[in-house]
Amino acid sequence: MPLNKEEIQHLDQQHIWHPLTQYKTASEPLAISHASGNYLYDVDGNEYFDAISSWYTCSYGHANPVLTKAIKDQVDQLHHVVFAGMTHEPAVVLSKKLIGILPYNQQKLFFSENGSTSVEIALKMAFQYHFNRGEKRNVVIAFDNGFHGDTFGAMSASSLSVYNGPFEDFFIDVKRIPVPNAHNIESVLAQIDDLVANHKVASFIYEPLVQGAAAMQMHKPEDLCRLLLRFRESGILTIADEVMTGFGKTGTLFASDQVMNKPDIMCFSKALTGGIMPMAITSCTQEVYEAFYDDELAKGFFHGHTYSGNPLGCAVASAAIDLLISQEIQDNIKIISESHLYFIDTIKDHPKVMHTRSCGVILAIDLNIKMQRYGNERDEILKWFMDHGIFLRPLGNTVYLVPPFTSHVSELNDTYQKINLILNEI
Ligand SMILES: Cc1ncc(COP(=O)(O)O)c(C=O)c1O
Repeated sequence: MPLNKEEIQHLDQQHIWHPLTQYKTASEPLAISHASGNYLYDVDGNEYFDAISSWYTCSYGHANPVLTKAIKDQVDQLHHVVFAGMTHEPAVVLSKKLIGILPYNQQKLFFSENGSTSVEIALKMAFQYHFNRGEKRNVVIAFDNGFHGDTFGAMSASSLSVYNGPFEDFFIDVKRIPVPNAHNIESVLAQIDDLVANHKVASFIYEPLVQGAAAMQMHKPEDLCRLLLRFRESGILTIADEVMTGFGKTGTLFASDQVMNKPDIMCFSKALTGGIMPMAITSCTQEVYEAFYDDELAKGFFHGHTYSGNPLGCAVASAAIDLLISQEIQDNIKIISESHLYFIDTIKDHPKVMHTRSCGVILAIDLNIKMQRYGNERDEILKWFMDHGIFLRPLGNTVYLVPPFTSHVSELNDTYQKINLILNEI
């Protein structure tokens, strides 16, 4: 017998500590019974259009039959095996496919389990790259308002640090630069020169084109490109954190595809497996890899996670790449991107709309009202959308969508209509 709603909530309250939650003020979590296609269903049978693809993971819809089949086929073969000293078909097949679609300079893949670990690995790789070449470099450069995860290295690199107070004394040394735009680009380049002259900079980490947790703030590829070139000229490794932007969200397979200068290291997770298995990959160039290739044992990269290269994750990630590059999904990404542009045109002059922006399937609308990032008014807006059958999570006064690539125009239109409705109610 499945548990009823009260039993689930009771047991949840007894033992579970949910992420990003202040229990004293939080409302009870919603018990979800199942999900299918672009919808989540709660235990009362209510359905919610998943307008943020469950934190940008299930880009091909929930319980996608192609992905379900991939995992079912693998489950009878091999669930898991140590990835140090052993390998398997799902990992090598995935590797070939992924290298085939990544920017041309990416050659080697290092597996882990979540976005934060992929970033942690990238930062460590960059530090050790210089160390192995006889240079101790201890500083990372990162963008203002960046977010890279919740482990220590990733937290250090993130500047959205309102919740990082207790940990700041333990952070690695990170210097921040503003996100470039047409007005500040020369001064950002000058800041980089200054930082490089006065510190031992190992790497620059950035979310290319869209800073997700900063409420989908966007910047131009040509401005980013100039920064990357400057870092390259200074011998500093560049790390593109594509945990959020990767796998089609910005309209190209990777956001870095739109930027002429390619990163040395890249981080992936979230939609890598289409939201089925927790898995992450850090990729790097041959040059980075070669700095670790040596007769001396200690020059190897002694980092490892128990579930690295999990065969179920690899099998489903392979199938997800097939879906991503299929004509149907590529066409749909275009349709969603164009629908967003059209919708923006219809609301941009609304008095309750301050700014709008979009990049691929990512759409963000800043409402013309003051709100805390996770305050009461923001929670009311979240609840309003849930009551109207849409699951999205505003960040402060920004309402944003990152719908599954399988979304139908009618579902998008319904979501736009609800946004219009709330604009006239607030
Ligand atoms: C750009 C970026 N990097 C890293 C992370 C951390 O990923 P995870 O939550 O899987 O640790 C996130 C999570 O939202 C992210 O958006």
